[in-house]
Amino acid sequence: MRPLIFAANWKMQVTPAEARAFVARFLELHPPREGRALWFFPAAVSLEATTTALQGRGDTRVGAQDVHWEPKGAFTGATSIPLARGAGATGALVGHSERRHVFGETEAETGRKVTALLAASLTPMLCVGELLAEREAGQTEAVVIRQLRAGLAGVSPADLQCVVIAYEPVWAIGTGRTATPADATVVHRAIRAELARLGASTRMSVLYGGSVNGGNAASLLAEVEIDGVLVGGASLDPVGWAEITGT
Ligand code: 13P
Repeated sequence: MRPLIFAANWKMQVTPAEARAFVARFLELHPPREGRALWFFPAAVSLEATTTALQGRGDTRVGAQDVHWEPKGAFTGATSIPLARGAGATGALVGHSERRHVFGETEAETGRKVTALLAASLTPMLCVGELLAEREAGQTEAVVIRQLRAGLAGVSPADLQCVVIAYEPVWAIGTGRTATPADATVVHRAIRAELARLGASTRMSVLYGGSVNGGNAASLLAEVEIDGVLVGGASLDPVGWAEITGT
């Protein structure tokens, strides 16, 4: 059976104390399950509390929501990879749509972050996805492929298998509008075709994100192209999140 990945992106929520309480409750509800891996992406200040609370659960991993590509220096407010790793992170999101469209992260910057994470042996979870106007203009695949090429520009074919891709259509994030399983499948196929052109020789994990919830997770995960979900709002409640991870 293909491994399924359930990734919780807590965005700018969940304090260290709240993370400890969340994990304690969630772990009671979600025993380790064969073929399932769980990722948690807390805010940087809650990385260590989350990691500590998850200790002993080998089916879980913790990642940063963003990292800088430089290992240290005068970058006020940013989190370096050594800082994230020191707090327990073994991966990071890169190019989340909020980083791209709210904070102005460029495609070239996503590439530097992916390369820096791989050099430090952390897992990059590269997020790609089109705006509503781009979808309506028929540019979805072109946008996603451009973002993939930029994000993976410095990655050797052999290292591609260390990267996770998350397709998150921007119009579906936090809006309650989800791509249908069939819509997501079309884009996931285009992503896989591009990954093959870039030299990926094994199946890479490609997740879907954007208004995933307890009511639609099962139908999305039933698609053979969808290897897991990246979830914002519906990952903030341990009971609701355990329903999704138990799908
Ligand atoms: P929502 O699940 O709240 O739509 O957020 C998706 C997301 O951005 C996950 O990274």
